Amino acid sequence: DLAKKRTEDEDNVEEEKRFAVAVQRYKDLDSREKMDPFAEWEDHQIGLARVRKSDGSVCRLESQYEDGMHPKEAQDAAEKTALEELQEVRKSLPIYGYREQLLQAVEEHQVLVIVGDTGSGKTTQIPQYLHEAGYTKRGKVGCTQPRRVAAMSVAARVAQEMGVKLGHEVGYSIRFEDCTSDKTVLKYMTDGMLLRELLGEPDLASYSVVIVDEAHERTLSTDILFGLDIARFRPDLKLLISSATMDAEKFSDYFDTAPIFSFPGRRYPVEINFTSAPEADYMDAAIVTVLTIHVREPLGDILVFLTGQEEIETAEEILKQRIRGLGTKIRELIICPIYANLPSELQAKIFEPTPEGARKVVLATNIAETSLTIDGIKYVVDPGFSKMKSYNPRTGMESLLITPISKASATQRAGRAGRTSAGKCYRLYTAFNYNNDLEENTVPEVQRTNLASVVLALKSLGIHDLINFDFMDPPPAEALVKALELLFALGALNKLGELTKAGRRMAEFPLDPMLSKMIVVSDKYKCSDEIISIAAMLSVGGSIFYRPKDKQVHADNARMNFHTGNVGDHIALLKVYSSWKETNYSTQWCYENYIQVRSMKRARDIRDQLEGLLERVEIEISSNMNELDSVRKSIVAGFFPHTAKLQKNGSYRTVKHPQTVHIHPNSGLSQVLPRWVVYHELVLTSKEYMRQVTELKPEWLIELAPHYYQRKDVEDDASKKMPKGAGKAAI
Ligand code: CDP
Ligand code: MG
Repeated sequence: DLAKKRTEDEDNVEEEKRFAVAVQRYKDLDSREKMDPFAEWEDHQIGLARVRKSDGSVCRLESQYEDGMHPKEAQDAAEKTALEELQEVRKSLPIYGYREQLLQAVEEHQVLVIVGDTGSGKTTQIPQYLHEAGYTKRGKVGCTQPRRVAAMSVAARVAQEMGVKLGHEVGYSIRFEDCTSDKTVLKYMTDGMLLRELLGEPDLASYSVVIVDEAHERTLSTDILFGLDIARFRPDLKLLISSATMDAEKFSDYFDTAPIFSFPGRRYPVEINFTSAPEADYMDAAIVTVLTIHVREPLGDILVFLTGQEEIETAEEILKQRIRGLGTKIRELIICPIYANLPSELQAKIFEPTPEGARKVVLATNIAETSLTIDGIKYVVDPGFSKMKSYNPRTGMESLLITPISKASATQRAGRAGRTSAGKCYRLYTAFNYNNDLEENTVPEVQRTNLASVVLALKSLGIHDLINFDFMDPPPAEALVKALELLFALGALNKLGELTKAGRRMAEFPLDPMLSKMIVVSDKYKCSDEIISIAAMLSVGGSIFYRPKDKQVHADNARMNFHTGNVGDHIALLKVYSSWKETNYSTQWCYENYIQVRSMKRARDIRDQLEGLLERVEIEISSNMNELDSVRKSIVAGFFPHTAKLQKNGSYRTVKHPQTVHIHPNSGLSQVLPRWVVYHELVLTSKEYMRQVTELKPEWLIELAPHYYQRKDVEDDASKKMPKGAGKAAI
């Protein structure tokens, strides 16, 4: 309350003080000579003419305008010089000198491991070299990426370098978005998409080369692609495995001692700074470090590693505020966020060259560690954390956790500062932490994730013996068993572990098996129309509701309108979607209701695709809007493992593997507290929260999941049997 009363002026004074303290702390921390951080400030003006080209990219045109050229003429000239310049840039990449040797190695060997530093040109150049050498006459060149943003942005870059339109000769394919055409010969895609393509084309007949890129990331899909050994059945298919790190021996051993082609990168020295004491708040420390670099260090862009969208948005806001607080005597600081759900039109911004005299700060997730290279980075700020999936095979619970990174990651992050010149890396942790607390390498995803969807995919590829599947690093046996049990409970597998008809249908959907089950079951309850809307809304990824700081009350009221009758979050999402549809997908309606237009458009795209898939598995679209119990039953039929029961103290206890959880404050049910709920997912922040919650009737559990629940699980007098002190412990 006190904070609210504070006037803006006081806020500013406070802000300045904190900044001064922080600058001091920073100075002490690397014991440099005392220097006035404001001494280097200078006035400057940025007057740039820019032209937006047909492909959406922006180029700078100051010289042409000075010459007084006609804008159209200038644009053509710019496009032509841009293309010529790009060809020069291509030739300047470290990999260029090894082009012929590389092509020869590919010619000679079926499987080849390629190792080269990040930013040396592996991802953008190798597919082009293969194209130039004629491989694409025999089939597509596919190149997998662990992340969707990387697939999109690299494809855009390569299209630009080849002077073609994105989606024509060069395209990308990520879940729910296919930007390719019949013309496409270079196809960038997420590793998960290649896995899905295998379901439809087990020998990948339309490909001449598959590049499994960023193999060092060891994502689940990459590991599964390895285990499937796609090259074995296709002697004419080339398989290239490319990695940024030196553990290439491991890949080589795994692929029957495949040859390793490694080439040196170009690395400049990077000065590494540690903090002298641990930071209590890495976010605050990161912001202070950025500002200090900005006012004190010579020009050069800054890259900050944060853990996710929320953190990045917060950092962006605070940075803007503090820069404003510093007045006009400061150089321009261009803030560029980059994370998985960033809309593609904003992604291009991080690659735009920084205008002269200004500085760019890129706020990125792990994506900038190896997948994306941003030129001009001279300073790296590394708080030492990333968001990682973690899975408890005993309880079957999966959570995203903010976890300390590995030494290997820290090295990669630091390396980003020394790509074009000498740089500096500021680690916001101590040297002691680094030496004693960080793991050498990141644990491969296969060992810390729920395997249900991969097991379902493997089963539908006809691979039954999962215990003996050739994993590079095997998952815990418990996790495999848990996945099989879940698929059995969902009715995707029978007692012998064979795929059922429902399982075959479920495998068609690029969704978590619980979501697919919910869709497949909706056929029985005649509400597939509603259920695919809900599934689409749950798959959007970003937030649906918009809550601007200065209009929070209005936004909350608007949101609660969709909750009238305490219908639960799933039904509320359905109401949002159908109301939007009724307005003929109106943007104005979204503004009025504090709904994110972009998320809704994405939901519509996803929904269209799910509708197409329904047809494929021969489920008719049927609507049952007046019988919302059918909709809720379909949800429970998919998500019954995610159920929880209210406790006396207002917290919840999960039914099957008892654990204390809470309804997320954003849920429409957070004040209602129904006795029994089903939830979409758990997120761990200050507490373990259930997100997207709907009320259910306990008898549905017996009806819909007889393999999973028994009478005693759903008896309503469970509170009496609670062990002594359990309630207290929960408080
Ligand atoms: O794959 P690798 O890390 O070896 O390098 P790359 O991703 O092929 O990047 C080679 C060069 O292309 C770098 O200098 C990047 O800055 C540039 N690039 C770009 O400007 N825009 C992109 N969207 C991707 C790469
Ligand atoms: Mg790469």
